[in-house]
Amino acid sequence: MPRLLIPRESAPGETRVAATPETVKKFLALGCSVAVEEDAGVSSGFTNDAYHKSGAELVPANNEEWSKADLVICVQRPSETSLKSLSPGSLVVGLLAPYNNPTLVKTLKDNSLSAMALEMLPRISRAQSADALSSQANISGYKAILIAAASLDRYFPMLMTAAGTVQPAKIVVLGAGVAGLQAVATARRLGAVVYVSDIRPAVKEQVESLGARFIEPPDLEERPSESGGYAKQVTENFLLAQRQKLSDHLAEADVAICTAQVPGKKAPRLINEEMLDRMRPGSVIVDLAVQQGGNCFGTKADEIVNRKGVKLIGAANLPCSVPNHASYLYSRNILALLEPFFKDKKLDIKLEDELIAGCLISYKGVIKSQEVLTAGGGI
Ligand code: NAI
Repeated sequence: MPRLLIPRESAPGETRVAATPETVKKFLALGCSVAVEEDAGVSSGFTNDAYHKSGAELVPANNEEWSKADLVICVQRPSETSLKSLSPGSLVVGLLAPYNNPTLVKTLKDNSLSAMALEMLPRISRAQSADALSSQANISGYKAILIAAASLDRYFPMLMTAAGTVQPAKIVVLGAGVAGLQAVATARRLGAVVYVSDIRPAVKEQVESLGARFIEPPDLEERPSESGGYAKQVTENFLLAQRQKLSDHLAEADVAICTAQVPGKKAPRLINEEMLDRMRPGSVIVDLAVQQGGNCFGTKADEIVNRKGVKLIGAANLPCSVPNHASYLYSRNILALLEPFFKDKKLDIKLEDELIAGCLISYKGVIKSQEVLTAGGGI
């Protein structure tokens, strides 16, 4: 019977938990014994009592508990000390931030650990229910618009009032991945006019189906490419042309939502100082890519910078501001990933399975992912 440990997250500001009482019950039914660190769910609205009633054992947060676990499911990467307390062969599953992290690679190797990094799950249909990046990015896109609307000195919708007609806000969304598309949908629901820039031509139709207008990528010989649904990094020359194209749109915008990212790489710099100088005082930028270097000049993680009247909001981890639903969805993602590999009350991950092969960065200390080993010069 594998022993599953649900830790209380230790990263600063992290409010989510990797299993809810609902998924604890499912793991028990699959044959696990489940230990939940005390107060693991407190910040996300799941009480110790609720875990206890679901059948989990509540345990203190200490290294001894880690040494007893066969499987740890977490949101963010656990501390080095916790990882080093695990017994050889045990498996850690979570958003492990595996890129450019030689310390993690060394710890996994030295302690013969297995690890699945959810960031590396392949974007295929079968993976959708396990796709934690998508479930969390959706929340970020939604919340980014609410923050922008609450910070803007104008209305979002068009209003005809006795005192006069108010024009709708103009929103520019940079990057039309999961977060960007949810930002578009939320801004449209609030009645704003939305423009979207992305370098993947495939998103034009999705953007237009949500009632937004697509800003075509620059018409250069260099065509941005993608692999597995993700954008590849573009050249500085391309970015220069893209910024020129965006500059006029931003000069008229009330809000810019920055979501443009390339996995494992520094985020593209899409808004520079000159472009900011052209923006209206009172306008708002919410930069979701701030932790990857930012799409916008001058944004700082978890800070609001007032730059000549333009509010630059560095929104580093918005899913943590919606922790109950973020945990509800995240915990279901993990269950969906692992459930098929439980048989006769044992966890038997199939190394050849496409989902496992994609995200298993280490198996009993052998590093499986070349991407993790070779990722360099990125973020
Ligand atoms: P992401 O967070 O890595 O990037 C966000 C967006 O930024 C992407 O649309 C990317 O094209 C865009 N971007 C990159 N460089 C840019 C630049 N210079 N200018 C403007 N935009 C730029 O992407 P995310 O949200 O994780 O997903 C990307 C895509 O993956 C989705 O839109 C979808 O097509 C696909 N996907 C497929 C799934 C499945 O089939 N299981 C599940 C989720 C996503």
